[in-house]
Amino acid sequence: MKNLTYIVVLLAVALAACTNDNGEIGNYRYRTDMHTQPSFKKLEDPLPPVKNTVPVSGIEAPLRDSASAARLLNPVKWTPENADSSKFLYETHCSPCHGLSAKGDGPVAAKFQQPPDLTTDKYKRIPDGYIYYVIRNGKLIMPSYYESVKSHERWLIVNHLRTLQK
Ligand code: HEC
Repeated sequence: MKNLTYIVVLLAVALAACTNDNGEIGNYRYRTDMHTQPSFKKLEDPLPPVKNTVPVSGIEAPLRDSASAARLLNPVKWTPENADSSKFLYETHCSPCHGLSAKGDGPVAAKFQQPPDLTTDKYKRIPDGYIYYVIRNGKLIMPSYYESVKSHERWLIVNHLRTLQK
């Protein structure tokens, strides 16, 4: 009788170790209350994208290096309607160092390190995707704006920079 108790306890422990949070042991579902259901749970990771597809919104695709970033096409066109937002974003995030006209003469530049003049031919030729990359990842002493400037806003800033280069 004592041995049987041991076996039952051992079996219970073994079973508990094989179950998961969804009330399943392997393919067998032993709990069917509403708590265990396929809906999203608090703090659960987002579902991974379907195999062989890439996310087009929401999740930002990882950018490996500036060379691959340079090949990105700017999906945001300059329009009279979004020009004000572009200007506002540039003046908020970039002008303290790069200056209102992007010549590298912002008030912080004097006390920091003088950034390059972004209105020169060199930067006119640089692809939109490269500038997007610099905003996202920073460059040497320039900080990354990954957190504070979202993907769509980075393209808007690129568009404003292009108008300053004219
Ligand atoms: C805190 C000051 C600061 C701010 C704010 C800042 N930058 Fe810079 N930026 C720099 C400095 C310094 C450099 C030169 C980096 C280096 O050492 O190569 C630079 C370089 C650059 C370059 C040239 C990169 C290259 O490869 O030559 C671009 C483009 C640029 N910044 C765009 C921006 C944009 C757009 C913003 C706004 C989102 C911005 N920066 C905000 C300081 C700043």
